[in-house]
Amino acid sequence: MPSTPHPTSELVPGAPRHVAIIMDGNGRWATQRGRPRLFGHHAGAKRVREIVEACPGFGVEYLTIFAFSTENWKRTQVEVAGLMSLFRRYITKEMKALKAEGVRVRFIGDRVRLDDKLIRLMNDLEQETEINTRVHLTIALNYGGRDEVARATRRLAQDVAAGKLEPADVDEETLPRYLDTCVLPDPDLVIRTSGEARISNFLLWQSAYAEYEFIDTLWPDFSKQEFGRLCASFGVRDRRFGAVSR
Ligand code: IPE
Ligand code: IPE
Ligand code: MG
Repeated sequence: MPSTPHPTSELVPGAPRHVAIIMDGNGRWATQRGRPRLFGHHAGAKRVREIVEACPGFGVEYLTIFAFSTENWKRTQVEVAGLMSLFRRYITKEMKALKAEGVRVRFIGDRVRLDDKLIRLMNDLEQETEINTRVHLTIALNYGGRDEVARATRRLAQDVAAGKLEPADVDEETLPRYLDTCVLPDPDLVIRTSGEARISNFLLWQSAYAEYEFIDTLWPDFSKQEFGRLCASFGVRDRRFGAVSR
């Protein structure tokens, strides 16, 4: 049976209920200014609050942002360490505002490779915001779509081996229950900034029927006005899900 798509927001007709963003271009933004790449990452982190706060007005209930991929460990030690320190500082600094704004924060990705202090902060932020419902912000940190599917399959195989699941019951409904995103609807709209037209291992399973927007703006320049325009143009797209338009 084909799975039914999640309905779009009831707040703003035609709005994307779940937007996922590949926040790209921080390094180039810094280089254009003759500054180190980390300067761009700090500028990029500052953009996040405005975009999160704009979500309810545009009818967006779920926002998922790609902060660090499983492939980003290939960068220099200085950049990786700087990013990890930025994530720790970001959580510490933003906790209060996120709570006050009614934002529920979740993290997806494999935490195993992250340092203990960062993991503690991530757990704290998830717990401190778990009663919030205004915006569901998911931060993908040490996230890779292939890694996620592999980890999910490992857990699924363990359940089969333990006799909790029959191989014949593994289908399109069962597998996503093992993904990091199991409590989230699939993204309706995926935005990538910085002009690159690729998905770089982001939400591979979940984005099967997402609409895509590849825009030239570098992430530190992305504004709520541009976000609003993309949400509005999503509303006029004809999503057919393999059927024929009415
Ligand atoms: C995105 O910006 C942030 C991360 C991947 C952590 P980049 O750092 O990839 O910026 P560019 O693509 O080099 O400009
Ligand atoms: C994707 O951007 C990952 C994040 C935005 C966190 P990258 O800059 O790492 O992607 P590639 O290397 O250009 O594909
Ligand atoms: Mg990049």
